[in-house]
Formats: sequence, C-alpha cells, structure tokens
Amino acid sequence: MKERSSFSSKMGFVMAAAGSAVGLGNIWRFPYLAAKYGGGTFLVVYIVLAVTFGFSLMVAEIAIGRKTGLSPIGAFKKLDKRFGFVGVLAALVPVIIFPYYSVIGGWVIKYLVTFATGGAAQAAGDTYFSEFTASTGEPILWFAVFIGATAIIVALGVEKGIEKVSKFMMPVLVLLTIIIAIYSCTIEGAGEGVKYYLLPQMEDFSASTVVAAMGQMFYSMSLAMGIMITYGSYMKKENSLEGAVRQIEIFDTGVAFLAGLMIIPAVFAFSGGDESALSAGPGLMFITLPKVFNSMPAGGLIGALFFLMVLFAALTSSISLMETIVSVVMDKLGWKRKPTCILVLAIAVLMGLPSSLGFGLLNGISWQGLTILDIMDFASNSVLMPIVAFFTCVFVGFFLKPKVISEEVKVTNGSFKAEKLFKVMIKWICPVFMVLILLSSVAGVMQWDLGPFDFLKV
Ligand code: PHE
Repeated sequence: MKERSSFSSKMGFVMAAAGSAVGLGNIWRFPYLAAKYGGGTFLVVYIVLAVTFGFSLMVAEIAIGRKTGLSPIGAFKKLDKRFGFVGVLAALVPVIIFPYYSVIGGWVIKYLVTFATGGAAQAAGDTYFSEFTASTGEPILWFAVFIGATAIIVALGVEKGIEKVSKFMMPVLVLLTIIIAIYSCTIEGAGEGVKYYLLPQMEDFSASTVVAAMGQMFYSMSLAMGIMITYGSYMKKENSLEGAVRQIEIFDTGVAFLAGLMIIPAVFAFSGGDESALSAGPGLMFITLPKVFNSMPAGGLIGALFFLMVLFAALTSSISLMETIVSVVMDKLGWKRKPTCILVLAIAVLMGLPSSLGFGLLNGISWQGLTILDIMDFASNSVLMPIVAFFTCVFVGFFLKPKVISEEVKVTNGSFKAEKLFKVMIKWICPVFMVLILLSSVAGVMQWDLGPFDFLKV
C-alpha cells in the first residue's frame, strides 16, 4: 500500500489547520457576538473556553486521526465498530457545508474584483448585494471560480497543495488584518468603537454570553466535522500534538480578536455609534462594510485588501472541507487523488446550485424563514455538529478511554501538560456543553419557548 501523505513539518500542519479554523466565522460573526455580549467580558469567556473546551476536543480529534492514520469514517470504525456511525455523521458535515460555503466564497471574489476595479461606490449601493445574489448567472460563475480554485489546490496534494498554499496565505492574512485594524482604529470617531469592543460591560454579561461563546468557539475551531481527524492523519508522530493545538488556538483567537478591531471601530465611526449597524451575517460583510469602505479615504484600496484577506480565510477553510471529503472517498474506495477530486467537485457543484439560486430563481423555497443556504447551514452547524461532538466525547471519555488519546499525545516526547484538564473536560464538561449548544441553536430557529431556560437561545 502507498504510504499516507503527510505535512512536512509541525509548522506546515499548524498553518493548514489554522487555515481551516480561521474562516468567515472569525470575521463576520465573532466581532458581532463580542459586541452584543458584553465586549471585553465576552473576550475573556471566549478565551477561557478556547483553552479548555476547544483545546480538549481538538486534541481528541487530531489524536484520533494520527493514531489511526485514517479519515473520520475509517478512523472511528477502526477504534470501535459500534461507533462507526459517528464517523459517518462527521463526514456528512463537510458534504453539506462545502457547496454552500463555496457559494459565499464566490460572493467574496465578486466583491474583491469590484473593489479592485474601482467599483467601491457601486458596491456601497443599497440594492447592490440583493440584486447580485438574486441574479442567476453571475453568482454561479464566481461560485465556480472559487470551488474550482479549491479543487485545484486539493488535487495538488497535502504537501504540494494544501501546505504550500496555507504557508503563504496565512501569514499574508495576518499581515493584512493587522494593517486594516490599525487603519480602522485611527479614523476619526473610531475611539468609541474600540472602547465598546474592549471594555468589559458587566451588565451585558449573562448565561447567554457563555452559550454564545461556546457555540462560536466550537464552530470557529473547525471541530466536529472530521477536518481535524483528517488533518491529524497527515501529522507526523515526531511533531508535538499538544504544542500544535496551542498554536492553532492562538492563531484562531488572535485573528478573531483582530477582526473585531478591524470592523467595530470602522462601523462605529461610520454609523455614529449605532450598534445595530453591527448585526451579524451577510448583511455586515456585504452591505454595511462596503458602505463603510466607500466613506473612508483610500476606501477602495482598503476594501480590496479586506476582501482579499477574507478570500484567503475562506479558501483555506474550503480546502479543509474538500480535503476531508476527498480523503474519506480515497480511504473508502481506494481511488487516486485526482479522479476523486473530479468526482467530489462535480457533486459539490451540483449541490451548490440550489444554495446559490435560493436568493433568486428558487426564493420560493424556504423553511422557518430560512433560505436554502441557511437551511444547509442550520442542518450542519446547529444540528449535526453538536451531535457529532457529543458522541465523540462520550466515545473517548467512556469507551475508548482518555488514556488512549493521552498515549497518542505523548508519543512525541512523553509529555502531555494538560492531561488532567483534558480528561475532566472530555468526560464530564464537553458533553454537557454540547447538549446545551444543540438545545440553544435548535430552540432558536424553531422558536421554542424554553421557559426558565429561555436564556439558552442566543
Ligand atoms: N472555522 C471556520 C470559521 O470560523 C468555519 C469553517 C471551517 C467552516 C471549515 C467550515 C469548514 O469560519
């Protein structure tokens, strides 16, 4: 049998995994949540959760991948036949996300091109976004460009494609983020926004702050979708797993934090301190921010740099989604990489079309007020992912036993500093958190009345 591909170094692994973790969620959702749930308080809660809860789940997933040398379906089956279904569910998540994530990636390219060609004023128009997404051909074209670029990189392989691209894009992304954040903090009227973002506002702190931070962190670290298992299977035993996870955390949280410094002060200055201008989702990124850029000096350039940075963030995430699917198919059918990429690309394009058309031709199709794209997002992020994470914890905590993961972590140099924390988290705390996240997001969309527990809905 052919030897499994691998990342050439720990740094290569960290860049690729951080590339997956740093995505649209860091840029458009984190700043919004931080602003809504108590500024500095949210940051502290988020960081504490990342280094305990997120850390433990990520260690477990990467260790499962590296120990078995397989992508999620094979990995769970190899460790315990009865838990094979967890691998299947985990693999289903990227299958659902990859197509619609690429539709949004296409929108990002469209905005990058618009800003880079001097169209800032146009992009700032009130109906620009809704007209663009409601049209038929153009969004599909940009979707095809984005998903095609992803497929080419994945087809080039783990080391020559994914690792190379991540090692280039991630440092550039950080640099761009820092430049834009500095610029944004220095425009007139930005100071209020910086204060609003960073100063802890205790009166905004409540149990929902914790639930919101939990949900965001778990999505942001690319957990429960088989990605970290797949990337772990390409990690060499001589690279420190615990050290790598610490670095990924710093990367992911650092970029999320900087994204807030980039967006909140600028939006504040533009809106004269109106917090509602920060509302999350596509509206912030594709409607509010273009207006903000258009209003600042050198806004065309800053807008272009911003969308380039977002494009890098989205590409490295979509690469990880596609790689996970490709890896599952290769492991399962024993196919070569290139034909597998062609098959996965073809299916993903077909699956992405309805999401793209859901804003125009197919806008009659909706459920609970959600478009097709939002329904996909709900099914994967709010329902499947917490279920996968819950069973992963129960499996590792009570069937496989945390000791097996610890041994895998210690293979490198005998040390696992946070071993005790890991054990307690994975057995007792993470599963409870997962149930809360599931309840919170499902109840939110279904508009259930949870009585005294209504705070869970975020
Ligand atoms: N972690 C990514 C983010 O924060 C989300 C993501 C990554 C989604 C990979 C899918 C695949 O945006």
